[in-house]
Amino acid sequence: MNFLGIDVGTGGSRAVLIDAEGTLLASATVEHQPFASPEIGWAEQDARDWWRAAATAIRQILTEENIVADEIAAVGLSGQMHGAVFLDECGEVLRPSIIWCDQRTGEQCSKLTEKIGAEKLIELVSNPALPNFTLTKMLWLRENEPEIWNRTRSVLLPKDYVRFRLTGDKATDVSDASGTLMLDVRNRKWSSEILAGVEMSESLLPTLYESAEITGIVSAECAAATGLKVGTPVVAGAGDNAAGAVGMGIVRVGAVSATIGTSGVVFAVTEKPSIDLKGRIHTFCHAAPSRWHVTGVTQAAGLSLRWFRDNFADGESYDELVAAAAKISVGADGLLWTPYLMGERTPHVDSLVRASLIGLTAIHTKAHVVRAILEGVAFSLRDAIEIFKELKIPIETVKLGGGGAQSKLWQQIQADVYAQMVETNAAEEGAAYGAALLAGVGVGNWKTINEACDETIRVAEKITPNDESVKILNRRYRAYQTIYPSLRSIFQ
Ligand code: XUL
Repeated sequence: MNFLGIDVGTGGSRAVLIDAEGTLLASATVEHQPFASPEIGWAEQDARDWWRAAATAIRQILTEENIVADEIAAVGLSGQMHGAVFLDECGEVLRPSIIWCDQRTGEQCSKLTEKIGAEKLIELVSNPALPNFTLTKMLWLRENEPEIWNRTRSVLLPKDYVRFRLTGDKATDVSDASGTLMLDVRNRKWSSEILAGVEMSESLLPTLYESAEITGIVSAECAAATGLKVGTPVVAGAGDNAAGAVGMGIVRVGAVSATIGTSGVVFAVTEKPSIDLKGRIHTFCHAAPSRWHVTGVTQAAGLSLRWFRDNFADGESYDELVAAAAKISVGADGLLWTPYLMGERTPHVDSLVRASLIGLTAIHTKAHVVRAILEGVAFSLRDAIEIFKELKIPIETVKLGGGGAQSKLWQQIQADVYAQMVETNAAEEGAAYGAALLAGVGVGNWKTINEACDETIRVAEKITPNDESVKILNRRYRAYQTIYPSLRSIFQ
């Protein structure tokens, strides 16, 4: 019995196949078209490109030797959160999807907060209105492209569009739905009150499930496109952060992860919804039933390094850039990077702020800038950890994930900046692996998500902070914290 997990990311779609013990049998990643930015701060992708990439990745796995579609007992899905896919009555895509990091809906956020009331919003959906969240994208479309809005019959999240192409069902799970601003996060159901408040019909939204529940089966059309077997069950899955947390074993209270992908996410499990009244972190349902989580999000974490590589690296690889940065002293000789390339969520909740490189002198080199980026991204993730501490959210272990966990230098910088021992896992397969575990739970291979994690996930390495570096980086963090208040007015 094998399980397939698919993660519809921003950069690409990844499929992984695991066996009943959780051992990785095969994996494939197919890149997406980079997101388009028709105006500053906008971010759009074609949902059909996600399906192309996901179907190609599945097909690649199935053409590998010894992989038989008959042996795939279930499929699980994960994906970038918050994006809105607008479909007409025939299920055709009406316009490019407005994705998670798009910042165009500041005005809709203000109007929504005014209409519903800031406190009431938190009471109803556990989160404040942010441009990332799906509802604000729907409101933008209604105001700005009414002809498309009038033809819209369904709004799906990214992974759920891929599900729609796999099974024909319009369904989602509670963790991903938490990032729409339309879910009553506390009670794990659509909030009829908020929907009534904005005059949106629930019929636009997909059916809700818990993450390990089966939502449908692979259709004949999908089987023809991917090679999967008709009738294979597909479970609800989870948003990429909750699925990634399952894939890293972050399912019990006290477990925290720091993941650096395109965005950076610090994730902690809670027993009940834990809310920051200042709205600096998100409060969402976890993929595990009766569990919630908080996340702090850095909009441009891995994206900071990618942006630098793509624009200034003269063809050097990440490895070459990071190797040069490793030779620069801790603290990058005074250079500081604030990673606000796409505005920022945690802790500033400010879509207008922009990135900055502060403290340049004539001695600084390209390697200094790379080191400053690695440290600056870690400072930004520490901002979230500080808020968790303020809210008394227990932090027992910090597990590193994403591209940031692959680099020895970024691992050590994170241990030193968080002043805390950090861990990596033996096999870091990210959200796709978590989605595959959820598929296994859905068809009874594991009784619970906790059991699935306990039986499959092993710690590889523990990285201890270096006392001297902790002292230096602590001082640099204090300096970093003064940058945003000093620069904010420039961007307003
Ligand atoms: C989480 C978030 C990102 C996206 C992209 O709130 O916006 O992590 O899910 O991966």
